[in-house]
Amino acid sequence: MIADIQQLEKAALAELENARAEDSILAVRTKYLGRKGLLTGLLRNISQVPIDEKPLFGKRCNEVKEILETKIDEALQLQTQGEKEESLAREKIDVTLPGRGIRSGRIHPVIQIRREICDIFASFGFSVVEGPEVELDYYNFEALNIPKDHPARDMQDTFYIEDNIVLRTHTSPVQVRIMEKVKPPVRILCPGRVYRPDSDVSHTPMFHQIEGLLVDKGVSFADLKGILTAFLKKVFGDDTTLRFRPSFFPFTEPSAEVDIRCVICQGKGCRVCGQSGWLEILGSGMVDPAVFQNVGYDAEVYSGFAFGLGLERIAMLKYGITDIRLLFENDIRFLKQF
Ligand code: PHE
Repeated sequence: MIADIQQLEKAALAELENARAEDSILAVRTKYLGRKGLLTGLLRNISQVPIDEKPLFGKRCNEVKEILETKIDEALQLQTQGEKEESLAREKIDVTLPGRGIRSGRIHPVIQIRREICDIFASFGFSVVEGPEVELDYYNFEALNIPKDHPARDMQDTFYIEDNIVLRTHTSPVQVRIMEKVKPPVRILCPGRVYRPDSDVSHTPMFHQIEGLLVDKGVSFADLKGILTAFLKKVFGDDTTLRFRPSFFPFTEPSAEVDIRCVICQGKGCRVCGQSGWLEILGSGMVDPAVFQNVGYDAEVYSGFAFGLGLERIAMLKYGITDIRLLFENDIRFLKQF
């Protein structure tokens, strides 16, 4: 019987030696010292031990029990200590490493231009209004003096949703919606996304426009020239040279396109300006009396001017971007330059 204790002690210590994780140490404890454990079992059988061996047997059992308890406690302590050291090593921070830096987002170049232009016109007393991108044919075309079969519709290829519903081709419909609601004076700026089925280095099917409208008593072409000149000088610099070129839009009469002296070649002629020395920047004109009639304004009392421009074009000229599609490819290497 005494030999059994010796053997049990050896086996228990060997198992403890191999137990690394907390669970396995606790398992050794249960196996030998638990209520149904092996050592507990031996002690329970003390009645079968010959009478003269009993005292020694009891003593040995208690010794082994004490030894095991101490060793198990030590093992548990070592184990927690080891885990702590391990996690300290794992979480070690090398304070000499260079910092990683925080990458910050940026405002998209087109939206930067939009904000800049809105700010300039706000300083002229214009307020910003927005309207639907999916628009009735009536507001996009008819109310703007472009009837169904009018050849002017060819100027703006169109995405049709249904017969009478289109993706707006310009933001002029917003101006009609506003004029239907408020009486003059009106001074508004309408920025937003517009859609035309075009795609090449200078066209994308979706692009951004800003259109402006000013209506009051006694507004003349001189006011149009004055405001647009002041505006373009603010965007492109005080020494910008402009020209107003006669043009045609169904909703304005007379109409003018406004060009600036090429910012790339200073008018000498280059690829960007098609050797002409001039860059087309915006369309404009005095609101056609037919449009006023459609919204119930008296063209004998009120007059006004309107203009419209594409934001991508301005961004491209300002930043020297040669392919409009770069603006919408979401390549961070491109976008972070602005
Ligand atoms: N709506 C015109 C376009 O998108 C631009 C424009 C607006 C022209 C106002 C003249 C006056 O082509």
